[in-house]
Amino acid sequence: MVDVISSSGWLSLALLAMEVSQMVTQGMWDRDSMLLQLPHFKKELAKKCRENPSKRIETVFVLVEMEDDERRELLQMPDTQLMDIALFCNRFPNIDLNYDVLDSDNVRVGEEFSVHVTLERDLERRTEVGPVDSPRYPKAKEEGWWLVVGDTKTNQLLAIKRVTLQRRSRVKLDFTAPAEAGKKTCTLYFICDSSLGCDQEYNFTIDVKETVDSEDDGGR
Ligand SMILES: *[C@@H]1O[C@H](CO)[C@@H](O)[C@H](O)[C@H]1NC(C)=O
Repeated sequence: MVDVISSSGWLSLALLAMEVSQMVTQGMWDRDSMLLQLPHFKKELAKKCRENPSKRIETVFVLVEMEDDERRELLQMPDTQLMDIALFCNRFPNIDLNYDVLDSDNVRVGEEFSVHVTLERDLERRTEVGPVDSPRYPKAKEEGWWLVVGDTKTNQLLAIKRVTLQRRSRVKLDFTAPAEAGKKTCTLYFICDSSLGCDQEYNFTIDVKETVDSEDDGGR
């Protein structure tokens, strides 16, 4: 679905298809609490976390940041189950993304330009990534990602690349500048194909210039 939709250049629909991939892998809806991906979590407990008086706990990352005592108090689980949760959290994708738009103020109308993305995973003392934690999925699933650049104003998908990531990866996304000169805001998305709540999104601006008129070239 993602391939077919992105070859038509439809941004929002491509992002939706990616979310469907996450939902299918985890066996849940995007309206469900993301915490239901965790072992031993039921709807009531997710609700209790969301309504936690000192701080709303709605994502894996916020749960991880809690003080141990506070989390123990909130979850009310035996140690073996807390251990399962800690293991899950250590394996949950925690990825640093840095990007660089090459020559961002010297992009010419209709010409190719690129964005370099560096991805680095916090492996938490592990050496390998291993399959996704997805007990409701009938097969072992390897984690994959999409890097997407799009224009939300026109709903256009400008570039897409499928990425797999162990510890570190550098990816180059090439695309064609718009046909009109002027400043333009693009959005870079880093979307997981298998877990909810670990996607990233960044806006950047490019300044598209008119191509140099060949008559000004001189000397021809
Ligand atoms: C990017 O820009 C869009 C449209 O202006 C906005 O809705 C969105 O929140 C921005 N995202 C980030 C991460 O700043």
